[in-house]
Amino acid sequence: MSVHQDIKQVTTHVLQNMKLSNEKIAMLTAYDFSMARILDNAGIDVILVGDSASNVMAGHKTTLPITLNEMIYHASSVVRAVTRALVVVDLPFGTYQGNSKEALSSAIRIMKETGAAAIKMEGGREIRESIERILSAGIPVMGHLGLTPQSIHKFGTYVVRAREEEEARKLMDDARLLENLGVFSIVIEKVPARLAAKVAQDLRIPLIGIGAGHEVDGQVLVLHDMLGITNEFSPRFLRRYNNLFEQIKTSVQGYIADVKSVDFPNDKEQY
Ligand code: KIV
Repeated sequence: MSVHQDIKQVTTHVLQNMKLSNEKIAMLTAYDFSMARILDNAGIDVILVGDSASNVMAGHKTTLPITLNEMIYHASSVVRAVTRALVVVDLPFGTYQGNSKEALSSAIRIMKETGAAAIKMEGGREIRESIERILSAGIPVMGHLGLTPQSIHKFGTYVVRAREEEEARKLMDDARLLENLGVFSIVIEKVPARLAAKVAQDLRIPLIGIGAGHEVDGQVLVLHDMLGITNEFSPRFLRRYNNLFEQIKTSVQGYIADVKSVDFPNDKEQY
């Protein structure tokens, strides 16, 4: 049973307490009002307005094309639906890597124009200055290490990261650096479970995994993947809780058939 289910509003401090009391953090993505309302009602702890919106909402192949304005549109729709969950918003590619002043103004736009509680940024030491500047403005930051999809053209592939000792050591050092800078949590994506467990043990802040095993402080999945709305993406770490692609398709086919056969609307469904 969840220790924190009576909490009226999840904050970064609540997440810290969840780590201390060994309660796992449940996080999912959402990009629109209606889905966010269902997630919040179900009791999700954290909603990430991920730049995976670029893939699942806009149909791009990568997360790179989504813009700051588009993220602000998605995030403000989500925030309007949420009363309890902590809403975290991805800073999109190209809005924080260039220089720390631009990073801060991107983060400020998200906080002012969406009402979200925190932002997320991909990377370690390379973006140190941007993280410091954003934190110094009082904006909570979530880090993201391991497979960082905004760097897909550098990696060249979506395979598991940090299998080799050198990359694993760099990841551990980056996690420590982010914690020392003051980020409130870190997402760790697609790395060996043993490494993720070591990082989670080493950190005081919560480590949220995706494809990183269960010995971390919480889990995150992309909503459209776990609901089976997307059906062409099946990494080993993904558990599907539904098959909405087929269910929605069947419903739409039923509607088409009813319209064509003039079964819909019937006498009771008209004025
Ligand atoms: O954009 C996203 O959905 C993410 C999660 C996969 C962690 O960053």
